This record gives sequence, structure tokens and C-alpha cells, in this order.
Amino acid sequence: MKWSSEYRPSLLGCTATGFSPDTEYALGGPGHGLQAQRLAWDSRLLGVPCARITLLGADSRPGLARLDRDLGRLLTRMDAEGIAFCDVRIALSAFPLIHMAEAHGFRLVDILALYVSRGRPAEASAPAAMRIIHREQATASQLRDILQLGKTSFRAARLYRDGHIRRQTADTFYQELLSELLGRRDAVCHLAIAQNGRAVGYVIGTQDTAPGLADPVGVLWLIGVAPSVAGRGIGSALLDSFLRRMHQHCPCVEIGTQVDNRAATTLYAKAGLLPAGHLATLHRWRP
Ligand SMILES: CC(C)(COP(=O)(O)OP(=O)(O)OC[C@H]1O[C@@H](n2cnc3c(N)ncnc32)[C@H](O)[C@@H]1OP(=O)(O)O)[C@@H](O)C(=O)NCCC(=O)NCCS
Repeated sequence: MKWSSEYRPSLLGCTATGFSPDTEYALGGPGHGLQAQRLAWDSRLLGVPCARITLLGADSRPGLARLDRDLGRLLTRMDAEGIAFCDVRIALSAFPLIHMAEAHGFRLVDILALYVSRGRPAEASAPAAMRIIHREQATASQLRDILQLGKTSFRAARLYRDGHIRRQTADTFYQELLSELLGRRDAVCHLAIAQNGRAVGYVIGTQDTAPGLADPVGVLWLIGVAPSVAGRGIGSALLDSFLRRMHQHCPCVEIGTQVDNRAATTLYAKAGLLPAGHLATLHRWRP
């Protein structure tokens, strides 16, 4: 596709995931395609029926015009079915799709820089007086420290940038996300432990083994350090141990962060990572 919301083929060099046969909404034809699905998790936490456009693509100007018509049809159908919220992520390089989404009522909420790590990092040691451990070694109280820390770690995230979403709702959303990830057996999670035994930082991610990917792609979901100990190299040490573990199975590890999250972009730059591309996040609320 000349313009596609799928960023992995161009940014990671992975195979396109293409159309999924079991998606709830699939429109398209020769030269253009559109897929969307309902989101049970988001619907529960935001309190309204939610959906996501998972694929938006066209290979020519006429294909773009057909996609535009189908996007209008899809949104009319979603509106009629009571879907109140829909989101989509589109690579900035596919800017005609961003304009199209905006013309259909989507609003830009953030721009993510997407970093791709392709190999083991040069070692960053943990600061003195700090240990990095795996989740399996953590005590229940250290895991509770992480959940507590998660209450404030995500203030740069997209839900806080959408005026329709209350802060309390966004807080709950990210706390539950962190709790869910901590409970996943397949998650890779490392904690930073201070001398007094309290957990003061964490990093967590999973391997994406979606059909169509030749190799699993490591995804860093969340990294956070307690504000009281920020700027002392703990984030760098957590990132380093996470990448080492992930690269045992994944040639590529992707990390997305808002372009204006200064602490995070500095952390990744210091680890030698450069943005491989940028993605726009857009939200649409039913008129
Ligand atoms: C991003 C974060 C994990 C960094 O943790 P940290 O322990 O402070 O990171 P480090 O001490 O290893 O710092 C790495 C570099 O970033 C710099 N940095 C840290 N905080 C910074 C800030 N607020 N502004 C600018 N640079 C910052 C450090 O100075 C350091 O660079 P230096 O060695 O050249 O001085 C932490 O700020 C955080 O928890 N933020 C909130 C959660 C978040 O946004 N996570 C990322 C998205 S998932």
C-alpha cells in the first residue's frame, strides 16, 4: 500500500499483517482496505462502547477516494450501533490518511516517536545502592510499590490529552493496564529495588507474535521511576536489562513515547536509540 496506517513493514522491515479474516468491520476492495474492531477493555474502563480502526490503506489516488467513501460508511454504521469512541494510529508518513481521518471528525491527540532497538545495548550498570531484579524475584509488597508508582507514571499518555476523558478515568485505565500486565505470565518485567527494599522503578513489556510477523517483536509498554529518585540512572539501567532480556528472542524491540515527553526521549537517546518514525494518534467521539 502506498499509504497505510500499518507502520511495521516500513519501520521494522516486518511483513505486513494484512487483513485479518475475523475482524468485526472489514471494508475495501482492489487498491484500498479498512478494518476495525470493538474494544471490550476500553469500553469497560471508559464507560462507553469503544472501537479501533486497525487498518487504513490505499495504493493510489483513486484508492484513496474509495477509502474515504468507505471510512464514511464505516463511521455511519458505528454511530448507528452506538459506538461512542473510536481511535486510530497512523504513521506521519501516510499524512493523506491523517487529513482524511480529520475530515471525518477524528482529532489529533498526540504524536508518538517510535524507537526500534535492533541489538543488545552497551551495558548500563545500575546506580550504586540499587538492584535490578526480575518480577519473579519480587515480593508482593514490591509489586504493590509498582502499582502505587503507576498511579502517576502515565501523565504524558494519550488519554490525558483528550478533553472528553476525566483525569480519574485515565488514572484508573492506566492503573488497570499496569496491573493486568504485571499479572501476565508472558510479560517481561524488571524492577529497581532501593537499599530499603522498596521498589522505585519498573519496566514492563511483552512479545508480539501476531500472525504475519516472521519473528516476535518485543514491545516496551511502560517504564517508570519514582520522581524522588529520577535522574540518577535508574531508568537507563532498567531499559538496558529489559532490552537484553527481550533481544534473547526478538530481533526488534519497539518503544513508543510522546515526542514531548522530554524525560523519556532523553532516556532513549542516551541509550543510543533514534526515532525510526512517528505515529499520530487520533480520537473520534460520536457527534
Ligand atoms: C522516563 C523516566 C523513566 C526516566 O527515568 P530516570 O531514572 O530519570 O532516567 P535516567 O536517570 O536514567 O536518565 C536518563 C537521561 O534522561 C535525562 N532526564 C531524566 N529526566 C529528565 C527530564 N525530566 N527532562 C530532561 N531530561 C531528563 C537524564 O538527565 C539522563 O540524561 P544524562 O545522563 O545525560 O543526564 C522517568 O522520567 C519517568 O518515570 N517518567 C514518567 C513515566 C514515563 O513517561 N515513561 C515513559 C513512557 S512509557
